[in-house]
Amino acid sequence: MRLGRRATTLRAPLVPTHTVRVRLRGCGGRLRIGTDATRLRTVTAVRSMQTLSVAVPSGRPVSAVRFARAAAARARQNGRARRACARVSVDRVDVAAPPVPLGAAVRDDALASDAPYRSALASDFRSATPENELKMEAVHPQPDIYSFERADGIVGFARSRGLAVRGHTLLWGEQLPRWVTSPVMPWTRSSLREVLRRHVTTVVGHFRGRIDTWDVANEVVRADGSRSSTIWQRTIGDDDLDVAFRAARAADPGARLVLNDNGIERAGAHQDGVVRLVRDLRARGVPVDGIGIQAHLDPGSGVTASDLDRTMSRFAALGVRVEITEADVPRSPPLTPAATVAQAETFAQAADACWQHAACDRFTVWGVTDAHSWRGADTGAVLVDGTGHPKPAYAAVRAALAGRS
Ligand code: XIL
Repeated sequence: MRLGRRATTLRAPLVPTHTVRVRLRGCGGRLRIGTDATRLRTVTAVRSMQTLSVAVPSGRPVSAVRFARAAAARARQNGRARRACARVSVDRVDVAAPPVPLGAAVRDDALASDAPYRSALASDFRSATPENELKMEAVHPQPDIYSFERADGIVGFARSRGLAVRGHTLLWGEQLPRWVTSPVMPWTRSSLREVLRRHVTTVVGHFRGRIDTWDVANEVVRADGSRSSTIWQRTIGDDDLDVAFRAARAADPGARLVLNDNGIERAGAHQDGVVRLVRDLRARGVPVDGIGIQAHLDPGSGVTASDLDRTMSRFAALGVRVEITEADVPRSPPLTPAATVAQAETFAQAADACWQHAACDRFTVWGVTDAHSWRGADTGAVLVDGTGHPKPAYAAVRAALAGRS
């Protein structure tokens, strides 16, 4: 069931990520509230018409109205002045979820050399995606050589500051090492299949337990909805995806496995192709847990919150989670104040769509500061400027992800 994160509802099933505000009308004094269903034990003072904010602990989902009624019953039982508490009743129940985490793509060279970049990452973001350091050319430069130092540096920095890490990416047609694209002996279907299986197994295994989500497959569908033509797809066939997803699941059963694509923000042949593909993969038991919507929102892309909402609902109906994985909004220089406001609005629409949709779990921007954005510093495409100062778009996104847009 779809639960809008901001919905005020009495029937939605609650899960541990929700916060419930129960407004009770009734007695005063110190009370113990909670329900057996949620095993909640909160001691608090309830005065007439007091609002209680309580986190729902883990346990079986429970409906908000049941939760609230049980809380009131507990208040009646446990209030010190029992008699005076006999009239405690539920006045209103609001359900809200905590903010959606904000992430950024991170470059190891910038992290090493740029102090404002480092502090912006640590203070302004909750999640990090190595921007290039986990791509095959970087992490697996020779058939028998893996090079994890750069990615390990980012993962270590992020985790030491409490940030989650997304892995990007295992199966893609770009940024491949030469030994894959120009082999000494031509690949056969089975030899390249084995290269892919080993690559995924080794890389995911190296980060097991430290990377919570992998973009297993990247840009595997073309604008017309057909499979992208890459060396993997041409040589192995369409089940290159099966190999990668299954190997990733085996190497870290706890990681969420995502199919990540661009140009799928709004309805069209590209999005149809991704839907067909993910439906087919899941029907065959291939472990695809999520779809990543890149959201490179070029000027004039015109993607709105309602486009994204419809897209997320379509993906969620396949039984997968959704993330915005690579948001950026480049502008043509010169960067006027009006362009800055327009950029903040575009970012906010995308972030708001993510907050509003129950299936959307994280919002990642493709770059920490403008100085190191792949779009070029002069397009000012991300949320923090080159000197480490958050731009209006940053405040707009943070507010939207907390449900305050
Ligand atoms: C980009 C990086 O940001 C650049 O530094 C690199 O030179 C090329 O790749 N979609 C993706 C990302 O999935 O991996 C790309 O990242 C941007 C487009």
